[in-house]
Amino acid sequence: MSGSSGEVLYLVVCAAEAAARAGRLVTLAQDAGWVVQVVATPSALDFIDVAGLEQQTGRPVRSRYRKPHEPKPPRADAVIVAPATYNTVNKFAQGIADTYALGVLAEAPGLGVPVVVVPFVNEALAGRTPFRRSVEDLRADGVRVVLDPGADPWARALAELGVRPC
Ligand SMILES: Cc1cc2nc3c(=O)[nH]c(=O)nc-3n(C[C@H](O)[C@H](O)[C@H](O)COP(=O)(O)O)c2cc1C
Repeated sequence: MSGSSGEVLYLVVCAAEAAARAGRLVTLAQDAGWVVQVVATPSALDFIDVAGLEQQTGRPVRSRYRKPHEPKPPRADAVIVAPATYNTVNKFAQGIADTYALGVLAEAPGLGVPVVVVPFVNEALAGRTPFRRSVEDLRADGVRVVLDPGADPWARALAELGVRPC
């Protein structure tokens, strides 16, 4: 999957400090030909530069379900969740869809849309049984969970989709 034909990448951003650096993933994805739609959890709105990401992507950052009369957004060809919080990883694994971000995640595996999750959790949370179970359950559902993303988590997330840096 290269994104060279203008495929749509949904970047789901959660409420972790690394969210402030999500623009790097946008840049890398756009360089590889993707159209990027940023989807923020409601809590993540305090962690990101909404105006900056909107300028970068040319699209509104989405954080809530559309109203019934509002047009449907374009379908995602792939989804990356980075940074993924403990909270969102566990809710995703449980099938909870009480925010727009979780709704996107709930549907994607069922639609055959590839999903890459890059958790940013400290050791105390990463060792908890609920988190370990969530990772196992998501992987069993075909979701790619990257637990050791290395020095550049953003490039690593894209590499999981088969995208190499330009
Ligand atoms: C400054 C700050 C940094 C945080 N960093 C993280 C983090 O790196 N990983 C994490 O799982 N939660 C982190 N949290 C906690 C989440 O923000 C919190 O669990 C929140 O409910 C997650 O919401 P979301 O999953 O809907 O984005 C942080 C909270 C604060 C205030």
